[in-house]
Amino acid sequence: MSLLYTPIKIKDVLMRNRVMMSPMCMYSASADGMPNDWHLVHYATRAVGGVGLIMQEATAVESRGRITDRDLGIWNDEQVQELKKIVSLCKGHGAAMGIQLAHAGRKCEVATEDVVAPSPIKAGENYKMPRELSVDDIRCIVTSFGMAAKRADEAGYDIVEIHAAHGYLIHEFLSPLSNKRTDQYGGSLENRVRFLNEIIDEVRKYWPDNKPLFVRVSADDYIPGGINIDMMVDIVNQIKDRVDAIDVSSGGLLSAHIDVYPGYQIKYAQEIKSRCNIKTVAVGLITAPEMAEEIVSNERADMVALGRELLRNPYWVLQSAGRLHTDVSWPVQYERAK
Ligand SMILES: Cc1cc2nc3c(=O)[nH]c(=O)nc-3n(C[C@H](O)[C@H](O)[C@H](O)COP(=O)(O)O)c2cc1C
Repeated sequence: MSLLYTPIKIKDVLMRNRVMMSPMCMYSASADGMPNDWHLVHYATRAVGGVGLIMQEATAVESRGRITDRDLGIWNDEQVQELKKIVSLCKGHGAAMGIQLAHAGRKCEVATEDVVAPSPIKAGENYKMPRELSVDDIRCIVTSFGMAAKRADEAGYDIVEIHAAHGYLIHEFLSPLSNKRTDQYGGSLENRVRFLNEIIDEVRKYWPDNKPLFVRVSADDYIPGGINIDMMVDIVNQIKDRVDAIDVSSGGLLSAHIDVYPGYQIKYAQEIKSRCNIKTVAVGLITAPEMAEEIVSNERADMVALGRELLRNPYWVLQSAGRLHTDVSWPVQYERAK
């Protein structure tokens, strides 16, 4: 019996299997952050394809939190009305629906926006110099995450994931390489985690207790002096009492050499799971069903996220079941292809 295909329940959310569609920006929203037919078709196809949990792409909590002007947003009620359609369509096809709440920080490329960060340090040559956030600005952004969580609940999402990875705003606070503040938000590890801690507390005010909260982290900056796995274990230990799972990625803060090979980030998910005693999601070049099964069966992570493989093949979950000697039901319309 495949564990990958065994349902998993986190809080009150039951997922039909342990495969998560990794959040992937489609850069296809309209300039006001609104979803459209592309998003409906794209996400519903993966729901029809049997994915257990769809984690919707990075969705900005305020307009300057977008990476580009084609990112999705959840900073107003009109957006909620459109997002609701995606949620109900995907849930109607059996997937649990998550939303990744994001703020791009210094990696915002929208020409008209105020680019902000913990410290005035560029993300790289091609990025704008960010403005250092004041403590009042920080409070406003924390509030925006709370309001976004409230709207996510109204839209019907099952899971919220806070995007604290890939060099975006929260990661910029966590890493000593991008956070040079001398106030209560910089310096010690406890201070650098404060912004994320405040966001989690704010989200928790509005996000129902029976619904899971995930946090995506980058477990390694791959640069001396930056985040490494030991530092990330310490960070997770500071937030784990209010979080249900850690989705473990790596990199993205600054350009760095990364040795990439199949499953290259699994070791980080495994370490966080065992050293912090919290559920984890493993992601990164996981494409073979046997590898996905091995990860969950050997308790290296609780779920497995697939990104590009699900872009190539939205029916990966249906097609891979046989390789794991498991029978899954196909949509009745497609049964003759089984
Ligand atoms: C087109 C594309 C868009 C992405 N957008 C996001 C995103 O919105 N949020 C995020 O956390 N990661 C994003 N990622 C990273 C993926 O979620 C995933 O972690 C990465 O692609 C590695 O997994 P894979 O090898 O299965 O594709 C994106 C990746 C791709 C290819």
